[in-house]
Amino acid sequence: MDSEELAINGGPKVRERPYPPWPAPGVDDVEAVTEVLSSGKLTQLTGGAVAAFEEAFAAWHGFDQCVATSSGTTAIHTLLAALGVGPGDEVIVPAHTFIASATPVLHQRATPVFADVNPRTFCISPESVAERITGRTKAIIAVHLNGHPADLDALLALAEPQGIAVVEDAAQAHGALYNGRKVGTIGRAGCFSFWEDKIMTTGGEGGCVITGDPDLAERMRRIRHHGEALVQPAPTGGRPDERTYYHAELGYNYRMSSLHAATGLVQLGKLEEYLEARRRNAAFLTEHLTDSPAIEPPYLAPDSVHSFYKYVCRLRPEAGISIDSFVGAVTAEGIPVSRRYPTPLPQQPVFRGSGFGKQPCPVAERLAGELFTLLVHPTVTEEDLRDVVAALWKVAGRLERSPHTRSGEDAAREIEGILDKLSLTTLINKEDVQNRLVEFCLAALGWRLDSTNTHVWVPLSEQMASLWAFPSRQTKRDYVLSARGAQVVHIEAQHEWRRFAVDLDTFLERINRGDWEDTRREGPNKELAVLLWGAQEANCKRAALIDEKRLLIFERDGEWGLAREVDLFVDPIERVYAAFMLLAPP
Ligand SMILES: Cc1ncc(COP(=O)(O)O)c(C=O)c1O
Repeated sequence: MDSEELAINGGPKVRERPYPPWPAPGVDDVEAVTEVLSSGKLTQLTGGAVAAFEEAFAAWHGFDQCVATSSGTTAIHTLLAALGVGPGDEVIVPAHTFIASATPVLHQRATPVFADVNPRTFCISPESVAERITGRTKAIIAVHLNGHPADLDALLALAEPQGIAVVEDAAQAHGALYNGRKVGTIGRAGCFSFWEDKIMTTGGEGGCVITGDPDLAERMRRIRHHGEALVQPAPTGGRPDERTYYHAELGYNYRMSSLHAATGLVQLGKLEEYLEARRRNAAFLTEHLTDSPAIEPPYLAPDSVHSFYKYVCRLRPEAGISIDSFVGAVTAEGIPVSRRYPTPLPQQPVFRGSGFGKQPCPVAERLAGELFTLLVHPTVTEEDLRDVVAALWKVAGRLERSPHTRSGEDAAREIEGILDKLSLTTLINKEDVQNRLVEFCLAALGWRLDSTNTHVWVPLSEQMASLWAFPSRQTKRDYVLSARGAQVVHIEAQHEWRRFAVDLDTFLERINRGDWEDTRREGPNKELAVLLWGAQEANCKRAALIDEKRLLIFERDGEWGLAREVDLFVDPIERVYAAFMLLAPP
C-alpha cells in the first residue's frame, strides 16, 4: 500500500498510540485533596483552603485581592453583577470566543453587543469596538483567546475616558504577558477559569476574579455568597469567616470548595513549569509549520507572551479544501485536532433567538470556517509533536497536490469545477435553518447539516454580481446540507422577509423574460432573484425559499414557476411533508 495514502482513504495512520492526556494530576494533587477530605472542613465557610488559594493566586499576580468562584463563568457573572451591569446596559463582547465570555451579560439582563476580532490574534478588535461604543456601553470583555493577550492598550484608551470597564477574560491565558505585565492585572479586573483542561486546574471546576480594587472585591465576595457579608477572621489566621445571615443584596452560591482550592494551590506551584512546557511545545510546532503553504501557525503580536492554552492554526483558503475535510483527514491519522469555535457567537441560538447579534462580524465569520486546534499541553513530548507535524504535512501535502488547489491562474477553472458540482444542488434560501419543523423535515428526508458558515461559491456572472452590487462572484453563505453527494445550499438571507414588491407571477414572468432590472432593490425580490439566478446558472431543477412561515418551491422546466407553497405552521403536516419531498435528495 502507498505509505503516503491518507488514513482517511485507507492508508496507514501516522500515529497509532493515544495522545498524552491532560490534566495529569500528580501524587501531590491527590494528597492535597485527601488531606482536606480527612479534615472534614470541605467548604470556603468551614475550611481555610479557599482563602489560602486566593491569597496565593493574587500574590502570583502581584495583587492582594482574589475572589475564588465555582467556575470561570460564575467569575465573569459575579464581576459583571458587582460592576452593576444590568438592564439597559450594553456590554461589548468578541464574536469569536467561548460562549461563557458573553452569557453572563444575558444573566444580568443586559445587552451583548458583538464586536469583530483581529484576523491574526483572533482577539477582540479595538477598531470594531470603537464602532460599537454608545452612551449605554458599560463594559468591554477583552478575551485573551487561546492564551494570546488582547490589545489592552487600545481598548483601555477607548474605554477609560468614557468610564467603561475593561473586563479581562483570562480563562484561557494564565501567565500570558502583555507589555511585560500578567494578563488579568491590567483592566478593571481579570477573570480566570480552572476547568479541567485549562492551563492549571482546581480539580476539574473552578474560577476566580483578581482585581486591585478592594471595594469591588468585597462586593464580589458578597455576591458569590448569597449577598451575605462574612465576618472576616483576624489577619493572622485563626478561625474561618463567620456568617451574619444578613443578605444585603441579591447573590448566588458561586463559592469554590476547599477540595478544589487545595488542588489549585498545588497546581499553582507548577504553573511556571506548565507554561514553559506549553511555550516550548508551541515553538516546536511553529518552527515545523512555518513553511507550510496550507497552514498558518498562531501569530504572536509584538510585546506579547502567549500562554498557549490551545495552539490554534488557520487553514489557508489556498489549501483548496474545506476545514471539515482537513480536520477529518488529520483525525484519521491518529492526531487529536478539532475545529475552533465553528459557530460565531452572534449566530448561536441563545443570542440570535433573543434578537442580539445583528452587527456584522465578517472576520469572526470567516475564521469560524478556517481555524483548527492542536494540543500542546505539558505532557506532550517532542516525539508526539513530530507525529503531529508529520500528519499535518502528509494531509496538507496530499491536498496540495489535489486538482482543487486554488491559485491565481486556475481560479477560473476552479469556479467552473464548483459550478459543475453545484449543478447537483438544490438551492434553498432560508433565514433560519434551525426552525424545528424545517430541520425535522429535512432530516427525515435524509439531508444532514454539513457545515455552517462555510464559503460556498454561488454562480453569479460578473454582470449579475454588479447588478446586485455584490463585490465578487464569491458570496458568503450560511448553511450547507448534504445527502448522498448532493447539497442544499442555504443562501444567507440578508433581509427580513417582506411582501414582494410585485406579485410573484409578475416577478417570475419578468425574470423568465430575462428582465432582472427591478431585482436591484433590496428585499425579497432581490433574494429570490439571486436564488433563482444561481440555481439557473448551476443548472438546478429546483430552488426553495423558506421564510419564518412559508416554504416556496420553484421548478424550472424551461421557465421558472412556483411548484409548491406551504405555510409551515398552518398547513397540515402531510402537506408540509409532501412539499419537502420535492427536495428529496436524488
Ligand atoms: C474564554 C472563556 N471564558 C470563560 C470560560 C468559562 O469558564 P468555565 O468553563 O470555568 O466556566 C471559558 C471556559 O472554557 C473560556 O474559555
